[in-house]
Amino acid sequence: MKNIFKISHPLIEHKISILRDKNTDPFQFRMLIDEITYLLLFEASRDLELKSAKIDTPVATADGKKLSTKIMICPILRAALGMLDAVFKLIPAASVGFLGFQRNEETLDAEFFYAKLPSDYKQRTAYIIDPMFATGGTAIDAVKFLREKGVKDIKFISIIAAPDGLERFNKIYPDVEVYVAAIDKGLNEKGYIVPGLGDAGDRVFNTNS
Ligand code: URA
Repeated sequence: MKNIFKISHPLIEHKISILRDKNTDPFQFRMLIDEITYLLLFEASRDLELKSAKIDTPVATADGKKLSTKIMICPILRAALGMLDAVFKLIPAASVGFLGFQRNEETLDAEFFYAKLPSDYKQRTAYIIDPMFATGGTAIDAVKFLREKGVKDIKFISIIAAPDGLERFNKIYPDVEVYVAAIDKGLNEKGYIVPGLGDAGDRVFNTNS
């Protein structure tokens, strides 16, 4: 699958291992989500376009470069909110387009409930973020939603993925790049990634006590 990029780096592997640990507390969990997202976005943004810029340093004029691509980050509510700060650190000028999908616990399908995009979304490159790429259903629906709205350039960033979900996504959107930090064994009967890390939203927002 040419559009799936598993980013291998010792720091990512180390951080993912602590992230998975059920004894990792919410504070540390959020920090790790933030750090891993930062590293993934660094890789996923390698092909961003630049424009020349003259920069006056205190000494002389330098030939610099600045981003020319306009970016829209699309966090899928709610777990991806934990990834948003990392994006702002790396790309402060990014706009945010929220996408709300809720999992139907019986069918395990994603159900759309909310979107709030910036007004110039059609001119922007979209990075959809969601920490868990499980059945692929939400990812497919999110890309479909943006494509139908006219967004042309879309990438997806997830922390942990299941092979089935990636394959399902790849069959429908082989042209959309997906960046992940880990590809796990599979899914359990509840649609959770195995071994995964549990419910990412609950762990970010400490709602599983
Ligand atoms: N969403 C989660 O938060 N965890 C999973 O394992 C799958 C979907």
